[in-house]
Amino acid sequence: MDNLASDPAALLRWYVDSGVDETIGDQPVDRYNIVAKAAPAPTVERAAQPVIAERPAPAPIAFPAGDAGATHLAQAAQTVEELKAAVEAFDGCGLKQFASRTVFADGNPKARIMFIGEAPGGDEDRQGLPFVGVSGKLLDRMLASIGLTRAENAYITNIVFWRPPGNRAPNDEEIAACLPFVMRHIELVDPAVLVCVGGLSAKTLLAKAQGITKLRGQWFEYATPGLSRPVPTTALFHPAYLLRSPQQKRYAWRDLLAIRQKLNGSAPV
Ligand code: URA
Repeated sequence: MDNLASDPAALLRWYVDSGVDETIGDQPVDRYNIVAKAAPAPTVERAAQPVIAERPAPAPIAFPAGDAGATHLAQAAQTVEELKAAVEAFDGCGLKQFASRTVFADGNPKARIMFIGEAPGGDEDRQGLPFVGVSGKLLDRMLASIGLTRAENAYITNIVFWRPPGNRAPNDEEIAACLPFVMRHIELVDPAVLVCVGGLSAKTLLAKAQGITKLRGQWFEYATPGLSRPVPTTALFHPAYLLRSPQQKRYAWRDLLAIRQKLNGSAPV
């Protein structure tokens, strides 16, 4: 430690090697007070929700009221670039104040397939791009296994645009605040196939009470007024879950093949 104390660069390296990925200020922060000062919860009006058609009976939507302001901002965007600017300017999601960057999307917005994950983590927060950490590397390998790459023919985003502190799951209010933008995002990309990556994404977009284990392997139709036709939609185990439970990879492989098949069979849009 003596050497480290006299060599700031070595000390920094030692922190990084030890797994430290955040800098904490010298002064204590009253997190309860910060939460109290967060942007007001979106309660004005219930946001539009996707309509899901599929074989089992639809379950009630579990998310709280959306923000009429967010809906208006999102709907005003006529291009993905405009939507990105609107999300970056939006202060109605409490997560934003804790995050370093807005994580909007990565990949080709003209791709015929769109993947929607859960929330940015530390690596994504640092780079401003979704799925660039360890689970992102696995997602890239999963995509490659069915001939997809972000550079060419896949588009990736998340259900919230800012990293939740401590990598906790985003809560219903935070998800509801972002949902109008996510829905508009899908309308503007207008994919031939939509894939929910992980349980939270599936529960939100499919408006289902069931968990990912039940939702994966099924096809649904995601529809909103701004889409010209319902989009075939399925769910995939989250790569972070697959890293923890590699025995589930065989199901993910099966799902990837079904996604490939659906993509092959769907008419170009
Ligand atoms: N997990 C997600 O769901 N999204 C990311 O962007 C990174 C990890």
